[in-house]
Amino acid sequence: MPFTPPKEPAPVLHGHRAAILRFDAQGSPLYESDGLLVVETAGAGGRCARIVDVGSHQAVLARHPGLAVTHWPGKLIAPGFIDLHLHYPQTDIIGAPADGLLPWLETYTFPAESRFADAGHAAEVAGFFLNELTRHGVTTALVFASSHPESVQALFNAAWLRGLRLITGKVLQDRHCPDGVRDDTEQGLVDSEELIDEWHLRERLGYAITPRFAPTSSDAQLRGAGELAAFYPDTWIQSHVAENLDETRWVRELFPEARSYLDVYARAGLLRPRAVYAHCIHLDDADRALMRECGSAAAVSPTSNLFLGSGFFDFEAAARTGMAWGLASDVGGGTSFSPFHTMLAAYYVGREGQTKPGLSLRPSALWWHHTGAAAAALGLEGVVGNLQPGCEADFIVLDPQATPLLARRTALAANLEELLFAMIVLGDDRLVVRSHIAARPAD
Ligand code: GUN
Ligand code: ZN
Repeated sequence: MPFTPPKEPAPVLHGHRAAILRFDAQGSPLYESDGLLVVETAGAGGRCARIVDVGSHQAVLARHPGLAVTHWPGKLIAPGFIDLHLHYPQTDIIGAPADGLLPWLETYTFPAESRFADAGHAAEVAGFFLNELTRHGVTTALVFASSHPESVQALFNAAWLRGLRLITGKVLQDRHCPDGVRDDTEQGLVDSEELIDEWHLRERLGYAITPRFAPTSSDAQLRGAGELAAFYPDTWIQSHVAENLDETRWVRELFPEARSYLDVYARAGLLRPRAVYAHCIHLDDADRALMRECGSAAAVSPTSNLFLGSGFFDFEAAARTGMAWGLASDVGGGTSFSPFHTMLAAYYVGREGQTKPGLSLRPSALWWHHTGAAAAALGLEGVVGNLQPGCEADFIVLDPQATPLLARRTALAANLEELLFAMIVLGDDRLVVRSHIAARPAD
């Protein structure tokens, strides 16, 4: 008898009724005070779900008579947040104080990361970390693992079990870091390629080639990473650049032939679309133009920059030069998993007007840079970070009345920008009633 594959179950449609926030292609907010989001679940045992319709409740329901609907009275449905840069092995060192980046790495970070050679420890932290992300409304992230392949296996496994769209990679660092976290130049690249073969584009997962930063990789390792990135053009690249003045001085000493810190990565072939560089504080306009020309993006990490005293990202210069950026927590240099805390810190950094022009970022722009613009930085526009038809159904349900003060303040909001700003200023994980991953509740 010829083999007949088992039939896929018929697609199922389901509606969610609430206020709905989404964005147009330019990042302008679209808001329905009484909206309906229609989600289709199909295929792969229900692990795949997309938005098929969205708009006012009345108009959308008329197109789907008899639709089963979950009603969320008083709630706001929004795209799941995207965290463009954080480190899962640093979950346990959030809030470790130090005199700046380099002492912080030596004193806390490398010792904490050395524990991730142990697959059991990595699995325990990976599970906690992903629960923490989704609890805070983050449904996609670009994540540093440690230099141990076991740490990547643990995070991919945990993300796969949860059906998350997540990107991670093994840290490459073959010098200027201690035994226990330092890898071998060649073996680090071999391990990266094996992890690409095993995990890259498996369902919703993706691999990021991950040189930690220029000081901890030899020339040979950076060039090898660039070759890998050229050979696998749909992989991601993640690293750090121009975060701290001591770091940038060190890079000048180590790479005297480079025009700038960013140029070190350019020379190694590590600037291209899908390359995301954390911080980008101490850049000049030529660097910013190079980021734009190469299609690379900045992961702006304001709670980390304030905590480590690194400096202030220049939002005006980014806009002037067309450098793409999205928001990131940078846990554990960053102090919170909460996108609300990150957006508020970005607003504070924008206002800082002593070392650069001060400006007031609009609340909807802050929100966009933590959702749709972050998706675009990853080359995932139209896939995640928005609630337009065709997007994957990662969405969050927020309660603007989650605390007495939120209820009081949001009730007085005269327009959408005021409502969003009240949530940014006063919000935290208590705002997040539920995160949906591919239409399914995360908890
Ligand atoms: N630069 C190199 N490594 C790190 C890190 O782990 N965190 C931060 N904030 N900056 C870095
Ligand atoms: Zn970082």
